[in-house]
Amino acid sequence: MECFEVAGGTALTGRVRVTGAKNSALKLMAAALLAPGRTTIEEVPDILDVAIMSEVLRRLGCEVDYERTGDGGGGGRVVVDVPEKPSTETDYDLVRKMRASINVLGPLVARCGSARVALPGGDAIGSRGLDMHISGLERLGATIVSEHGFLVATAPRLVGASIWLDFPSVGATENLVMAAVLARGTTVVDNAAREPEIVDLCTMLVGMGARIDGAGTSTITVEGVDALSPVTYSTVPDRIVAGTWAIGAVMTQGDVFIERAIGDHLRVALDKLTDAGATVEAKPDGIRVAMDRRPRCVDVVTLPYPGFPTDLQPMAVALAAVSTGTALVTENVYDGRFMFVNELVRLGADIRIDGHHAVVRGRERLSSAPVVATDIRAGAGLVLAGLASDGITEVQDAYHVDRGYPDFVEQLRGLGAQVERTQRPA
Ligand code: EPU
Repeated sequence: MECFEVAGGTALTGRVRVTGAKNSALKLMAAALLAPGRTTIEEVPDILDVAIMSEVLRRLGCEVDYERTGDGGGGGRVVVDVPEKPSTETDYDLVRKMRASINVLGPLVARCGSARVALPGGDAIGSRGLDMHISGLERLGATIVSEHGFLVATAPRLVGASIWLDFPSVGATENLVMAAVLARGTTVVDNAAREPEIVDLCTMLVGMGARIDGAGTSTITVEGVDALSPVTYSTVPDRIVAGTWAIGAVMTQGDVFIERAIGDHLRVALDKLTDAGATVEAKPDGIRVAMDRRPRCVDVVTLPYPGFPTDLQPMAVALAAVSTGTALVTENVYDGRFMFVNELVRLGADIRIDGHHAVVRGRERLSSAPVVATDIRAGAGLVLAGLASDGITEVQDAYHVDRGYPDFVEQLRGLGAQVERTQRPA
């Protein structure tokens, strides 16, 4: 088992470069399936999930090459060479490892008329339904059945339709837009997700020849076209990685410049840091976050974009745990995203959970202990908590963090943290 050994007591200081967003790059790779030929995607993070998506695409018949670009941000270039006739069946075990694999469903049905995609299941942050993906594709004319752990979708040619999502689901919006770009006629997705990663995907699709209006608003309109062509495209910077460094700077009373971070994509989170007492300067080439005293507790409510991102909630809880006062943190997106709190409590945090609320009473200092990362973001939150603890904190199951943060240890060390990757018997 791989662990992070984190020594507490050092302030994060210096510069860190953020590469492209995991939650965009994975979808851009899936979107490559929509056009035969070589699509090139830049600023793709060198992380486990990208390796898994590459393998999913290879099993569908694509050639996928990844090359690091060596700019210090942990990113690289992916070239996906898509055959005229991709296979339409995904590998069961690969898809189970990563929910984002469901994003090949829309492109495959749209382009090949059928797809057999394993059901990805839930994970350590709660149940993760697919009902909106399924009912939306059915609206577009697909027939979908669930058999032997697979979703099997068929549609000779999808037909545009009006779709109202019950909730602005990121994955459902992406799958439906990727299906609609090759459907006959007009599709309107209402109550669509508005995340920067949705805008990124739509921008790449437009570059491929798709006709899309309204990306970044709650109503996305897609005029189907007959065929798309491959493109070269660069992924939007990762706002969650950037937010992690920003919160880390405040928790450790440091001073960090996050190169390439886009202030506009983190407005609510940065506002919270300002309320906590930090200096926040959003500049064209990045964001500076500095803190010179113990932060103040601030309440946080997670919501779909532009609300406070659920993917930064574990870091927000860790921040409150070392701040002055009491914070109420409300989780509205996942039913199990407070599961990691038990681990934070092992570090001495004072947290009470009541349903989807956490009451966090700040402590001057946490106290190190062995803890377990339960998902990507919980793992990152625990490492930040370790930086604000006395002694050495061991965060076990480091692979979770590797799924989403390229060069995590190297980037932290570049900011002055004393962190090491260690092995121990499982
Ligand atoms: N949901 C349904 N039915 C559906 C779709 C979603 O009930 O058909 C529910 C989910 O169960 C969840 C909520 O809606 O409670 C939000 O799900 P959404 O579809 O918006 O999320 P996602 O597409 O599965 C992406 C990110 C997540 C991020 C969420 C929300 C990727 C690969 N994952 O997931 O990222 O938390 O959007 O912003 O893009 C992470 O990076 O650590 C991560 C979990």
